[in-house]
Amino acid sequence: MIKKYILDENDIPRKWYNILPDLPEKLPMPINPMTGEEIREKDLEPIFPKELIKQEFSSDRWIDIPTEVRDIYLLWRPTPLMRAYRLEEMLKTPAKIFYKYEGVSPPGSHKPNTAVAQAYYSAKEGVKRLTTETGAGQWGSALAFSTMFFGMKATIYMVKVSYEQKPYRRVLMNIWGAEVIPSPSNRTQVGRKILEEDPNNPGSLGIAISEALEDAVTHEDTKYSLGSVLNHVLMHQTIVGLEALQQMDAAGYYPDIVIGCVGGGSNFAGIFFPFYYMSVSGKASKNTRFVAVEPTASPSLTKGIYAYDHGDTARLTPLLKMYTLGHDFIPPPIHAGGLRYHGAAPTISLLKKEGIVESIAYNQVEVFEAARLFSQAEGIVVAPETAHAVKAVIDEALKAKKKGEETVILFNLSGHGLLDLAAYQAFIENKLPPYEYPEEKIRESIKYLKELYPWIK
Ligand SMILES: Cc1ncc(COP(=O)(O)O)c(C=O)c1O
Repeated sequence: MIKKYILDENDIPRKWYNILPDLPEKLPMPINPMTGEEIREKDLEPIFPKELIKQEFSSDRWIDIPTEVRDIYLLWRPTPLMRAYRLEEMLKTPAKIFYKYEGVSPPGSHKPNTAVAQAYYSAKEGVKRLTTETGAGQWGSALAFSTMFFGMKATIYMVKVSYEQKPYRRVLMNIWGAEVIPSPSNRTQVGRKILEEDPNNPGSLGIAISEALEDAVTHEDTKYSLGSVLNHVLMHQTIVGLEALQQMDAAGYYPDIVIGCVGGGSNFAGIFFPFYYMSVSGKASKNTRFVAVEPTASPSLTKGIYAYDHGDTARLTPLLKMYTLGHDFIPPPIHAGGLRYHGAAPTISLLKKEGIVESIAYNQVEVFEAARLFSQAEGIVVAPETAHAVKAVIDEALKAKKKGEETVILFNLSGHGLLDLAAYQAFIENKLPPYEYPEEKIRESIKYLKELYPWIK
């Protein structure tokens, strides 16, 4: 019996996979809300380093991973692929369950796969400081960890509710040298305006993005870094799926279903894009299903509309064509802070519209129940975000049991939850509200979006 499939360091992929040339139709370009015209690469230069802008629009299928980035990946990559035998046994399911364990990175999640790359390209172009937003603190800690290696500073706007719920993530960011600011804050015009209207605003990823962006564009030597949603970010994450392809091969199985939780979509894309490539290039041995899992509190793919919308609350970003709940929608303060986002990556949104990606939403109580069961079977306490994927995996494994089918399930275990024990405590003490789909608020927010931009579809 083999429990984990471990690659050699030499087997770490040397290229990332770019899905853009393989999409069923051309990805709609971002739009400048002022002019209604497509964004040009030059328009993004005040915000991002040039190399990342190039990657964002590249039509090359494979993009080289720089040696300097690979050298830092070596601190935790390759990550293991594990067979969840004990979970299978506990569920008495004929399903074969595999998970790619990204929680072994020093910050504890998949996020440094892109943070290291973004820090590297920024430093190479002379950037001295990166700003960003963070929800649960996973992304912020990944960026703090990565900027440290390239001698850069990091300023992290952390969603206030998470800043209060997760003090230890903050400490981690401080250890790695970053400055952490609860958002909305008094640091930016956007933050001050929001606080004036509502001093108790719990914050959201949309607001924190606005603050981080404003900070970056108002300082010369500073750029902004995004932890999800954009094409280049999702591309950097494909290292996860490219390793998993080799490991599933070593295990002698090919997945019937690939599952990941979705905030902006980066860990899900990271694991499933390479399997999508296998399908579209005719190399896959099966018709694999790709399942995105969301919270009912913030179900963009499941309940949103496919439309152009801003990536942030203050409408500073270009308009992206994506599934959205409306940029002014503030999701309820669930513990899976990294999933409290109103939109989903344009690439994943397009694949959802085409019926290639499925999505499902769960409330946080059923999700924590699944996470507890998983930790009692496999030992690992998963991040609250990851717990959403775990819930879907268990449901699929139980369906397989009912049908008596040997379904092969692969999921991205995107992070551990050892700094999220306050959330588990709330769950154990029955203090977690299930936060169902806030239909009325989402309807209002989408109505507002349509009134604001009647010219966009
Ligand atoms: C452990 C973990 N998983 C998943 C996510 C969701 O982000 P994404 O959809 O970009 O993977 C986050 C975001 O912070 C996270 O920390």
